Amino acid sequence: MESEKAKIDLQRLPRHIAIIMDGNGRWAQEKGQDRLFGHFHGVESVRDIVEGCAELGIGYLTLYAFSTENWDRPAVEVTGLMELLVETIRKEAETLSRNNIRLHVIGDMTMLPEYARNELKEALEITGKNTGLNLIMALSYSSRWELTEAVKSLALDVKAGKLDPAAITQDTIQQYLSTRDFPDPELMIRTSGEYRISNFLLYQLAYAELYFTSVRWPDFRKENLYEAILDFQGRERRFGKTGAQIQQESSASQTTF
Ligand code: IPE
Ligand code: IPE
Ligand code: MG
Repeated sequence: MESEKAKIDLQRLPRHIAIIMDGNGRWAQEKGQDRLFGHFHGVESVRDIVEGCAELGIGYLTLYAFSTENWDRPAVEVTGLMELLVETIRKEAETLSRNNIRLHVIGDMTMLPEYARNELKEALEITGKNTGLNLIMALSYSSRWELTEAVKSLALDVKAGKLDPAAITQDTIQQYLSTRDFPDPELMIRTSGEYRISNFLLYQLAYAELYFTSVRWPDFRKENLYEAILDFQGRERRFGKTGAQIQQESSASQTTF
């Protein structure tokens, strides 16, 4: 079968793709296995999708790996998954670097055990100077946690006289988010057939195109990514305007250069 990759318009790639990697547990249970077996296989998908995004020239890839709420899962799963995530990130840091991929982490690092914070710090340092794909791992992350932290530091800056409340704009808010250095995602993918956001990038996804697939995360591969990008490229992004306005703007931009 011909790859869907050839059909992708490389001039119109989403700059930032965000993925809710869901369905590891069910994938494993459907095979009569332990949930951790699913997380273990999910790592293969992460490798494949990171490679796929780097090959295409995507600028930013955010992967939702562990939510603030996931801490409430049974202790064996939490410990196993956290160890798997942190060890994988640490072990893959050299490979990421060889491919010019820069790692970032967003989330509540105070919830992580100390060994995990140290391993992550090393991985961030190893990849810190790379200029290719920005790989953002959302680890112990939730959007409401992020917004609460943003409001707290904004309030402190107002109190300290560093910020005038009357001067607050949307750009100011952006500066207080953990995603301050990244553009908003243009495409959000969720695997495993669930149709919800689960506390992921609530502010940043304001105008993202949402793509849902029933494929469980451990089965998600580059071809599935290409399908999602093609679906994205077939959509008309209107940002509140009318379809006619958008068509006019795009024909004007095609004739002016
Ligand atoms: C996604 O798979 C990984 C995490 C949320 C950490 P799940 O573990 O949520 O798998 P399901 O949704 O229970 O199948
Ligand atoms: C969302 O998946 C979090 C991650 C993929 C890390 P969950 O499996 O935790 O979400 P819910 O509980 O089904 O909404
Ligand atoms: Mg799930």
